[in-house]
Amino acid sequence: MGKKITGQPTITVGSVGLNGDFLNAFAGQGTEKTDLTELIRRLDNEEFDLVAVGRAILQDHQWVQKIKDGNTEALLDFSAESMGVLF
Ligand SMILES: Cc1cc2nc3c(=O)[nH]c(=O)nc-3n(C[C@H](O)[C@H](O)[C@H](O)COP(=O)(O)O)c2cc1C
Repeated sequence: MGKKITGQPTITVGSVGLNGDFLNAFAGQGTEKTDLTELIRRLDNEEFDLVAVGRAILQDHQWVQKIKDGNTEALLDFSAESMGVLF
């Protein structure tokens, strides 16, 4: 929508690859992974140019590589404990 209005490059963010809202992470709650079909459809539809990924990357630093490889069954649920892990 923003891209349509401004003509500027846009980025989407929020629960990419995950079910629950990010604020729950601060309450110590995890969330399950979810599929990317709708995101990919909208990206292909040029509704936005970039996709920001938060918790999914905090959980799994190989997240991008797994998507690139089409290895989506290897993607992980998000655990709030991942916020305390440094790679
Ligand atoms: C541990 C943690 C710290 C965050 N810190 C900030 C911050 O300092 N500033 C900010 O604008 N967003 C912050 N966010 C929000 C993220 O930038 C992002 O918008 C949010 O996590 C939604 O993406 P996600 O659903 O992929 O996690 C933080 C999120 C998490 C989980």
